Amino acid sequence: MTTPAVSIQALHKNFGSVQALKGIDLEIEQGEFFGLLGPNGAGKSTLINALAGLTRPTSGSLKIMGHDVITNYLEARRRLGVVPQEVVFDPFFSVREALIFQSGYFGLTKNDLWVDELLDTLRLTDKADANMRSLSGGMKRRVLIAQALVHKPLVVVLDEPTAGVDVELRKSLWRFVQSLHKSGHTIVLTTHYLEEAETLCDRIGIIDHGKLITLESKQELMSRGLGQKLTVSSNSPLPDVPTELQRKIVNASEFQLELRLRREQDSVIDILDQLRAANFQIDDIGVETDSLEDIFVQLTSEQAL
Ligand SMILES: Nc1ncnc2c1ncn2[C@@H]1O[C@H](COP(=O)(O)OP(=O)(O)OP(=O)(O)O)[C@@H](O)[C@H]1O
Ligand SMILES: [Mg+2]
Repeated sequence: MTTPAVSIQALHKNFGSVQALKGIDLEIEQGEFFGLLGPNGAGKSTLINALAGLTRPTSGSLKIMGHDVITNYLEARRRLGVVPQEVVFDPFFSVREALIFQSGYFGLTKNDLWVDELLDTLRLTDKADANMRSLSGGMKRRVLIAQALVHKPLVVVLDEPTAGVDVELRKSLWRFVQSLHKSGHTIVLTTHYLEEAETLCDRIGIIDHGKLITLESKQELMSRGLGQKLTVSSNSPLPDVPTELQRKIVNASEFQLELRLRREQDSVIDILDQLRAANFQIDDIGVETDSLEDIFVQLTSEQAL
């Protein structure tokens, strides 16, 4: 068996009385594109900070490419690039200086070619000599990504890299991260944009209240969707919904009715038959399968109960 890119065992982290992580077990294989999702305060950044050695776990173990983050920090850190959620920089550095400085941290003294290439790929060449504090938020985020990659790490962890980033830059960051993945990097991405996880990730973990509540391939997760939403519209006012269908109503207006269908229990055809039998004059129907967003909302709200 090949060494997992990331291996986390029984990870606990308390901040005083706050239990931010309550026993996380997670293995991410080399070459995976892994999505870590979860609501605000779930523990995503705490997990990432523990991986990066920025926060010391209360108990448990973390390994990057087989190297223990606590007992063999330098070897682990060398293989990991982290794009943090918060933008913190020394404001007196220029973009290039920040990258060269970061290279020095990994003992890379002749890294100019790679730094130039990163600047070019992330469209920062124009800003190479600009002071960090003069950059826009989106540019700072690109510098954070460049900084995470100065030492060509095998495993790249991005903590909400596209938060507050405009649509165009978000798309270009997606392409960039996809190209990193294609070239063999293992990617771990946290995001609040479920569309992003749906598009990019092979496997998804959902963390909530410090626990991993779901760990599945995207296909598995999507296929256990809650079902479908059926919308029927009419040009004439709709009659009363039959009693047996009333609990499925999501929305009802004079000319339109939305019903939620459960997977493997309700069939669109049966429901339409029942509506027609109740004198529904149906002029248009729409069927929408639940998105990852619907599934996520359901899973995390179940947990909150
Ligand atoms: N340095 C800290 N000191 C005290 N509590 C902390 C600290 N860092 C995180 N926490 C707490 O730990 C919990 C998890 O926070 P964390 O930042 O990991 O969440 P998150 O999933 O990254 O959320 P978000 O989506 O908002 O970024 C929260 O209750 C938070 O208040
Ligand atoms: Mg966070």
